[in-house]
Amino acid sequence: MNLKTNFSAFSGKNFLKLLDFTPVEISTLIDLAAELKTMKKSGIPHKYLEGKNVALIFEKTSTRTRCAFEVAASDLGMGSTYLDPVASQIGKKESIADTARVLGRMYDGIEYRGFEQNIVEELAKYAGVPVFNGLTNEFHPTQILADFLTIKEHFGKLKGINFVYMGDARYNMGNSLMVGCAKMGLNFTACAPKEYFPDEKLIAQCEEIAKETGATLNFESDPMKATENADVIYTDVWVSMGESDEVWKERIDSLLPYQVNRKLMDNASENAVFMHCLPAFHDLNTGIGKEVGEKFGLDALEVTDEVFESPQSIVFDEAENRMHTIKAVMLSMMSE
Ligand code: CP
Ligand code: NVA
Repeated sequence: MNLKTNFSAFSGKNFLKLLDFTPVEISTLIDLAAELKTMKKSGIPHKYLEGKNVALIFEKTSTRTRCAFEVAASDLGMGSTYLDPVASQIGKKESIADTARVLGRMYDGIEYRGFEQNIVEELAKYAGVPVFNGLTNEFHPTQILADFLTIKEHFGKLKGINFVYMGDARYNMGNSLMVGCAKMGLNFTACAPKEYFPDEKLIAQCEEIAKETGATLNFESDPMKATENADVIYTDVWVSMGESDEVWKERIDSLLPYQVNRKLMDNASENAVFMHCLPAFHDLNTGIGKEVGEKFGLDALEVTDEVFESPQSIVFDEAENRMHTIKAVMLSMMSE
């Protein structure tokens, strides 16, 4: 392989959560993704995993993650099989442990998107091949690799970046971004009402990591204080996949003051960027956006259309980088 990044230490590993990886390892994955991105843009073939196959289990829906895994697999010369949220036996007729042992006999790697983190951990325990977390309720680690590659491309560094996460910080994105920032030495601020801050045990774990890396962790309920000097303002949907529609009212009542709008972006650093893992409710052009927007008299939810469509928004760079980073994860962990 004519690659500069040395990833031999990753062979056979699972990618379940960022807590399992050192800052140097996370950096290596980001560098490998950047290298693979350059190869792809230069039209240099990189079918390093020819003859292998990956299974893609999706118990929740997806656009970016599924397409990123499928395109990355194809670029690496692999076959892939998509198992959708209804058409497989998983969880209903067959346990996770049995599914893992079956797929582990046929495939060289397995991606899982679904519910509790312990499901993907269990899958990894029984599969005998590398397992990749494509999003659970608690963590979305491949998204963070893409976000950090994007920040690095934009600012030339990760360490010392003032990173503000607005909105529900208790779920997969808030948790994973806090862990990622702690690992990579960013200054992380979660901005939300107190009851939307991440789990205290996870905060304590991240505070220990931050002592080693120089990261800082802040929890702030005042949006103007939180966004002052921010380099990155990041948000996610207020109601995540798998949650009941009944929580919309409570979320809107609590989180509307945390909507990312022009006033917040103007309060941040001059060169601040807006980021979002997507999909985003920035207008009424989606089924849910229209229904919720009309019911509550709003034309946008977590981010205004003005910010989403502004030159400060780098959301589509992030989306593209899902593919390059997922490719780095599969290549490094599925290579012998
Ligand atoms: N950001 C992300 O995971 O998008 P999908 O739900 O479309 O995969
Ligand atoms: N928090 C969101 C992230 C989507 C990529 C969800 O779980 O639906």
